[in-house]
Amino acid sequence: MANVVVVGAQWGDEGKGKIVDWLSERADVIARFQGGHNAGHTLVIGNTVFKLSLLPSGIVRKDKLAVIGNGVVLDPWALFSEIDKLSAQGVEIGTANLMIAENTPLILPLHQDLDRLREDAAGTAKIGTTGRGIGPAYEDKVGRRTIRVADLADPETLSARIDRLLAHHDALRVGLGAAPIDRADLEARLAEIAPKLLPFAAPVWKIMGEMRRAGKRILFEGAQGSLLDIDFGTYPYVTSSTTMSGMAATGTGMGPSSIDFVLGIVKAYTTRVGEGPFPTELDDDDGQRLGERGHEFGTVTGRKRRCGWFDAVLVRQTCQISGVNGIALTKLDVLDGFETLKICVGYEIDGVRYDYLPTAAALQARVTPIYEEMAGWNESTEGARSWADLPAAAIKYVRRIEELIGCPVAMLSTSPERDDTILVTDPFAD
Ligand code: IMP
Repeated sequence: MANVVVVGAQWGDEGKGKIVDWLSERADVIARFQGGHNAGHTLVIGNTVFKLSLLPSGIVRKDKLAVIGNGVVLDPWALFSEIDKLSAQGVEIGTANLMIAENTPLILPLHQDLDRLREDAAGTAKIGTTGRGIGPAYEDKVGRRTIRVADLADPETLSARIDRLLAHHDALRVGLGAAPIDRADLEARLAEIAPKLLPFAAPVWKIMGEMRRAGKRILFEGAQGSLLDIDFGTYPYVTSSTTMSGMAATGTGMGPSSIDFVLGIVKAYTTRVGEGPFPTELDDDDGQRLGERGHEFGTVTGRKRRCGWFDAVLVRQTCQISGVNGIALTKLDVLDGFETLKICVGYEIDGVRYDYLPTAAALQARVTPIYEEMAGWNESTEGARSWADLPAAAIKYVRRIEELIGCPVAMLSTSPERDDTILVTDPFAD
């Protein structure tokens, strides 16, 4: 049986929600493996719109197992608030359809405090985070002082973990001019949430391994995007997790050999939220138009997304690093009606041509994109379900993208509706 990893191949917001939902109907297990409730996935099923941040998208479907893997950072209060919202929409969530890795690190209110304190203190050097405490929570994980789900079951271990955590955070808070942590309050909050959270805790690596051996289909659902990757993204303007496909293995406890197909989600143009380099960004009417037609506002923070032309250099780079087998190209219809389209095919920095984005921040800041121009199309591509429904110029644009990024289109999405999709290769096919 094929197991599929889905990752965003740009800066996030590539339209993963719809594709993941389409795939999750065919999967038995849907697992998140990195990030936290900084993600925003919108699913449109029939007339209902579901907005998910932390839960795997498969949770809205019956008879699927949703998994939160150890690579995620979990805010338990955000989790239960999301569960409550979905329950109000008629989605049943219990231990039969949700499993959380017992070695998952927690996001605590002190992580959110630190995220905001740092951003406020950074002035023009701020990252533009979602303020959800993601970075500080990952820091505590690798700093070996985090509280993990399993720790909540044992008061002695928990108390020792809190000692270690507060020794670090209180010192930091003093430096940032904030009050020390109210330990009694933190303990009371954890004591209240523990009995709700612990029933979902499980050795995910073991159960998923058993399910895999039993021939179940697993969908690994990536969040954010490859250019926000902590190693390969536009550092430091990145998120604090590994957003590349390799994380699906370590973020759940499955071996790399359990991954059969990597699907990269790619938007037909480029967007990013927050600060940081963006070579093809448009500050003109075209950028405005992309934002309006594409409804480019953040699901989590409501922030306006920055918009620009398709950057084939960056997508080629991320597809290689994530070992993408095929892409799902989304939001092609947003380009309908543009007279001319531009695709970035290389960069020039101080007179030197580059076919990749160099790592050095000083070079990234001086990048000038080299564009190739293509004719646009006037016809509507919205809702197209076969190649025959697409104007010739749109097909040409898609084919050129495939050529430039060195990766075939497996799926083409032409509206938020799940059936408005052209399927070329089924990632789950054996
Ligand atoms: P953090 O993940 O909250 O630390 O934010 C770090 C950077 O990642 C900021 O630029 C955010 O805007 C960006 N980011 C985080 N999550 C998402 C997402 O789901 N989509 C797009 N950008 C995101």
